[in-house]
Amino acid sequence: MARRNKIYEGKAKILYEGPEPGTLIQYFKDDAKAQNAQKSTVVEGKGVLNNRLSEFFMNGLNAIGVPTHFIRRINMREQLIRAVEMIPLEVVVRNFAAGEISQRLGIPEGTALPRPIVEFYFKDDALGDPLVSEEHIIAFGWAAQQDLDDMVALALRVNDFMSGVMMGVGIRLADFKIEIGRIWDGDYQRLVVADEISPDSCRLWDMKSPVERLDKDPFRREASNLSEAYTEIARRLGVLPSNVTHATKPTLIN
Ligand SMILES: Nc1ncnc2c1ncn2[C@@H]1O[C@H](COP(=O)(O)OP(=O)(O)OP(=O)(O)O)[C@@H](O)[C@H]1O
Ligand SMILES: [Mg+2]
Repeated sequence: MARRNKIYEGKAKILYEGPEPGTLIQYFKDDAKAQNAQKSTVVEGKGVLNNRLSEFFMNGLNAIGVPTHFIRRINMREQLIRAVEMIPLEVVVRNFAAGEISQRLGIPEGTALPRPIVEFYFKDDALGDPLVSEEHIIAFGWAAQQDLDDMVALALRVNDFMSGVMMGVGIRLADFKIEIGRIWDGDYQRLVVADEISPDSCRLWDMKSPVERLDKDPFRREASNLSEAYTEIARRLGVLPSNVTHATKPTLIN
């Protein structure tokens, strides 16, 4: 039996060698982890939904000229992507205060921010992905000043797109995280949105009932109606796979 080459296994995804040089296969697992891997559980069907949702968002971004690593979805759990050189930063855009910024700066959760705020976190699980400044990023060579300017511009375009798509289905995009990578084209590099865009990396609030969190927050807090929340997002966006009507176990219909 043929066996493919596993390149990396993370918390939420596995990367395999792709069919052609410069490509990878990204496999979406059902594992859900929050608070930097301190809590973990398996949410049945999460990988299937995130694969679909990331496809949906990245296709949309590609269509409006925001470059991403996404090539095409292969099956329920896998997509073909371009292999990129990852920049070791998480780029966070915040529209409403929540989580880290609320705690650190004492801004009540839900406060509308005066403008979208772009933050950088150094990707290092052992350090708990600490917030870093542009000074740190340039001094330690994680990215150059030009990269930073491009990353901010890219992140803000993703924010406008994602906010608009979500608003169309009655969901407020409080904040989200993306990861960005470099693609080399001869001597020139291009920055593209990589990794995934899914409810795992967004804070989504229902516009009608702000208490109802449609993202990982219910899980971050304690409960695990995560799969219902993700199914609801996919349903509203019309991207539920036709052969999966719900993310939980099938029930008998009399
Ligand atoms: N196009 C790409 N090319 C190369 N690497 C990628 C690409 N897209 C995503 N990655 C990397 O693949 C990994 C995906 O796995 P996963 O997100 O499960 O990791 P993780 O456990 O969250 O750990 P990490 O903190 O590295 O994200 C990440 O390290 C991500 O940076
Ligand atoms: Mg990750």
